[in-house]
Amino acid sequence: MAIKHFLQFSDLTLEELEYVIARTHVIKRKFKNYEPHHTLADRTLVMVFEKNSTRTRLSFEAGMHQLGGAAIYLNTRDSQLGRGEPVEDAAQVMSRMCDVIMIRTFGQEIIERFAANSRVPVINGLTNEHHPCQVLADVFTYIEHRGSIKGKTVAWVGDANNMLYSWLQAAQVFGFHVNVSTPKRYEIDPTLVAENNTHYTLFNSPSDACQGAHLVTTDVWTSMGFEEENAARLKAFKGWIVDAEKMQRAQPDALFMHCLPAHRGEEVSAEVIDGPQSVVWDEAENRLHVQKALLEYLVLGKLD
Ligand code: CP
Ligand code: NVA
Repeated sequence: MAIKHFLQFSDLTLEELEYVIARTHVIKRKFKNYEPHHTLADRTLVMVFEKNSTRTRLSFEAGMHQLGGAAIYLNTRDSQLGRGEPVEDAAQVMSRMCDVIMIRTFGQEIIERFAANSRVPVINGLTNEHHPCQVLADVFTYIEHRGSIKGKTVAWVGDANNMLYSWLQAAQVFGFHVNVSTPKRYEIDPTLVAENNTHYTLFNSPSDACQGAHLVTTDVWTSMGFEEENAARLKAFKGWIVDAEKMQRAQPDALFMHCLPAHRGEEVSAEVIDGPQSVVWDEAENRLHVQKALLEYLVLGKLD
């Protein structure tokens, strides 16, 4: 069987994603009932972090443990990656010693070069361009709360960042629509969106983007790796806060999502993120369960 990687959302077909989501329901239910689910016993995940993380590290490490396997954490500072060992060489070596690899790094081309030299599946744990595991967890969270996401409208308010590009790919696969509102000079890079992706509309006004939405979502104004732009971004993004006024433009039962970590008073008001429409803690928890289903699928294929 050819190795399957998850470097961006569009790497898996709708049929494969639906399988992973169905498995997630099973795996989550077993976890809640304290039933063991050791499908990856004796398997090892290597996690490579070139940027900070709380949720991604914890969910992959705990998840691998819950699947009966082991997870090993490497970062740039302690490994030879920080001393210039070529990504291609690191991929050859690591993939001879483990069953699956997760990487959080800067440019998407780094993870692509790594995967091209890996003997085992590689998972994107966040790059500058994509964050597919988070959006998989978010889609699962929407389905858990509201049923099918097909035909629904997601409002994206804020930066055109890795989360947005993964949402746009998810919209194309699952058949929903994204209303996008970003400040001027921080718009979508068209080279990062498939030419045939008709599943989004651009809005100048963030409030108009929220009109009638079933889900409103945002993310930090300054992503990791862009810290030197922080002061300029704080000015440019004023008005792109998801607050009660914008949530009122959405459907009455609209959900609010944020991948976290969040900055109350910047991209989201405390009233919204801590309010009744917010499902941010479910999103965070679901990273654990969707990634267990993903790891299982990439390493073992379909089990039923
Ligand atoms: N949402 C997310 O990926 O969080 P971490 O940066 O804490 O991993
Ligand atoms: N867009 C953010 C997501 C953090 C989980 C970043 O890349 O820093």
